[in-house]
Amino acid sequence: MRIVIAGTGYVGLVSGTCLAAKGHNVICIDIKPSIVANINKAIPPIYEEGLEALLQQVITSGHLKAGVDLQVALTDAEGVIIAVGTPNNTQGTIDLTYVLACAREIGAYIKKVDRFLPVIVKSTVVPGTTDTAIKNEIEQASGKKLGQFGLGMNPEFLREGKAVSDFMEPDRIVLGYEDEGTLAFLQALYAPWGCEKLAVNTRTAELIKYTNNALLATQISAVNEIANLAAAMGGIDVQDVMRGVYLDKRWNPSIDGQRVNPEILAYLVPGCGFGGSCFPKDVQALHAHGDQLGLPMAMMKAVLSVNDTQPLEVIAGLKKVVGDLAGQRCLVLGLAFKPETDDVRESASLRIISALLDHKAQVSAHDPVAVKNFATALGPRSNGITYVSDWKSAAATAEVIIIATKWPEYSALSTLGLQGKIIFDARRLLKKEDLPFARYLSIGYNGHATRSPLKVR
Ligand code: UDX
Repeated sequence: MRIVIAGTGYVGLVSGTCLAAKGHNVICIDIKPSIVANINKAIPPIYEEGLEALLQQVITSGHLKAGVDLQVALTDAEGVIIAVGTPNNTQGTIDLTYVLACAREIGAYIKKVDRFLPVIVKSTVVPGTTDTAIKNEIEQASGKKLGQFGLGMNPEFLREGKAVSDFMEPDRIVLGYEDEGTLAFLQALYAPWGCEKLAVNTRTAELIKYTNNALLATQISAVNEIANLAAAMGGIDVQDVMRGVYLDKRWNPSIDGQRVNPEILAYLVPGCGFGGSCFPKDVQALHAHGDQLGLPMAMMKAVLSVNDTQPLEVIAGLKKVVGDLAGQRCLVLGLAFKPETDDVRESASLRIISALLDHKAQVSAHDPVAVKNFATALGPRSNGITYVSDWKSAAATAEVIIIATKWPEYSALSTLGLQGKIIFDARRLLKKEDLPFARYLSIGYNGHATRSPLKVR
């Protein structure tokens, strides 16, 4: 099928590349000529595992090209996908400027032609946006009514670092639609995928996306709140508590006596909080949306409030042991919001390092790929940090070592024989038993002795 995708950000480009890889003919549109030129040379503007190779493949095969002119690209299109950004504005609500501008331009095209064009929203928008604001914008710009053009909402569930495989092998595909023509289009578009598909109205599709992220974020904040309680009590390591919980078969069923260890357990790990471009923004937008409807959204509010102070639990935990942090040589390992990405948006490290600087600690920091982005995000305060490339040598001279991102390479800490150092493992990368020589602290463990569980998996 001939598809146009408006927006070549993270979602638009991954979607376009993957749709092209399944045999569709895709034109990706961006307003920035330099991005378009690079995509046509198979150079993606973002790093994403497997993207460059797949882009190379679809550019070479001619299934994908990029352009700057949406009107021209639409001439031949069987459907158009809106994948432009929806940043949060200062009130936490989403900013629809780009989505509506795009809808207007598509509407202007629809006005000129006498054919049915399905318009699919992939940008994350709060429930009720596609069938009101976006529909109205297209109707006004085209002078036509829904039915003369099509309208759908097809949310993405792409994790950074795994976006290509998440698109190619999805758990499910949500086909939100307002008219039968659009449902038929979406079914044909995703015919090459064999997974379960859910056909719903557009506002249900929109809420599925938010609910998915909001529930995962809720799980994280709930576990973190319990972890903080455990640390405040002492004599408990919340990880032992969680091991006890993980053994409940409703979280972790057994098949033929073997635990399944489902991926959901990876969202039940106590830590210094969630970050990235989705969880904080989506929970905030859901909260703001409920607010506008006169709902208190107490759960979403609590999820955000726990997460907001969670990075500071690292500082509080350290101060209880170290006392004054002024002048302490602190090494922060990990600056990205999670491993396998250079993205630092809403990264806990931004809050942890800012607080360490506030306390006049001597801060050094390492990340395998995110230093540049981090320095930019932190701004002038970044000058107060020493960025190191050899973190193992830096660890030898530091007094306090904080693991803030779960990069696997940091597990080598347990082999360095760092006698007497304080290691604050804010991501539960290490086992305290593997660091008998150091003073091990974590979220949910304040260093006061516990009995280790007798038998754990
Ligand atoms: C998320 C969703 O998983 C994806 O489906 C959606 O469409 C986009 O948002 P992403 O932001 O890439 O993906 O990251 P994810 O791997 O889900 O982690 C999100 C954050 O939660 C990270 O900051 C991570 O460190 C944090 N996290 C995760 C915790 O703090 N504790 C946990 O137990 C698990």
